[in-house]
Amino acid sequence: MSTSGLPERVAVIGGGRMGSGIAHAFLMAGAEVTVVEQNATAASEARERILTAVEGSVRRGSPAPDPARLLVTVTWEALNGAGLAIEAVPELLDLKREALARAEQLLPVDAVLATNTSSLSIDALADGLTRPGAFLGLHFFNPVPASTLVEVVLGTATAATAGEAAERWVRALGKTAITVRDSPGFASSRLGVLLGLEAIRMVEEGVATPDGIDTAMELGYKHPVGPLRLTDMVGLDVRLDIAEYLARELGPRFEPPELLRRMVDEGMLGRKTGQGFFAWGEDGSPIATAGERPR
Ligand code: NAI
Repeated sequence: MSTSGLPERVAVIGGGRMGSGIAHAFLMAGAEVTVVEQNATAASEARERILTAVEGSVRRGSPAPDPARLLVTVTWEALNGAGLAIEAVPELLDLKREALARAEQLLPVDAVLATNTSSLSIDALADGLTRPGAFLGLHFFNPVPASTLVEVVLGTATAATAGEAAERWVRALGKTAITVRDSPGFASSRLGVLLGLEAIRMVEEGVATPDGIDTAMELGYKHPVGPLRLTDMVGLDVRLDIAEYLARELGPRFEPPELLRRMVDEGMLGRKTGQGFFAWGEDGSPIATAGERPR
């Protein structure tokens, strides 16, 4: 354990959008970080992303970490010696299971193995591991540097000591951990998606305008962003997929409204296509239309 309270060495498997962000967070907090990527091109892109993020943090006043503390590699044996490994490969059950089993074989027996899955079951991912007690979810949010929440997700077999260590490490990153039992949508997506779906049903029923509904939550409930703008930012297609998954797992209260399906069919996916419940500029900034409160 280092003086920061983090494991001396942290490994991240998959250095994409989330993996790079997670690697950056641990580097800035003082850990040595090893990122394992699938090929040389992906490894060099991951390295570039992490170093750019580090430069940004240093420009904003954070102390510069020693660049020698970052290793980005395609060699899995580099996992050897890590006290914590976080898997952040794409959201595919078999791909993740394979990566986790491979990592488990190379990690020290007392290491914690985590997954950054946003929706898969921790118990399903643990199937095939020989040390499921040391396995849990560490659900970081995107973008990692700006997000202060991490969900620590405990599977049926997760040992209490592993969960407690994970909570401590999250705190050492300067973030806040909440502990969640393995269940569909964890805490954040389950509640956030339900609010978004109800807001869409309210648009469908003509209860108020999208701007009116968002304003109700922003001013009335102090949400930083209303549920419909947030749906636009996440992507209506992404929200539809999650809603369908939660409807299958948790029941009809997550059934996607007809309006959401229609908008996705028509290619109105939100910010990324320029139009969702609101209009968005090419640079991703909102374009106010008549009847909207100026922002
Ligand atoms: P991404 O596609 O940006 O990154 C995945 C990375 O994994 C790529 O760099 C890819 O080269 C690498 N990879 C693929 N197969 C590999 C293998 N066998 N070994 C090593 N590396 C491999 O995906 P993203 O968005 O970073 O998502 C990663 C995980 O994080 C997913 O489980 C996702 O559900 C979860 N997540 C994503 C969030 C988001 O907003 N993008 C938010 C929270 C969680």
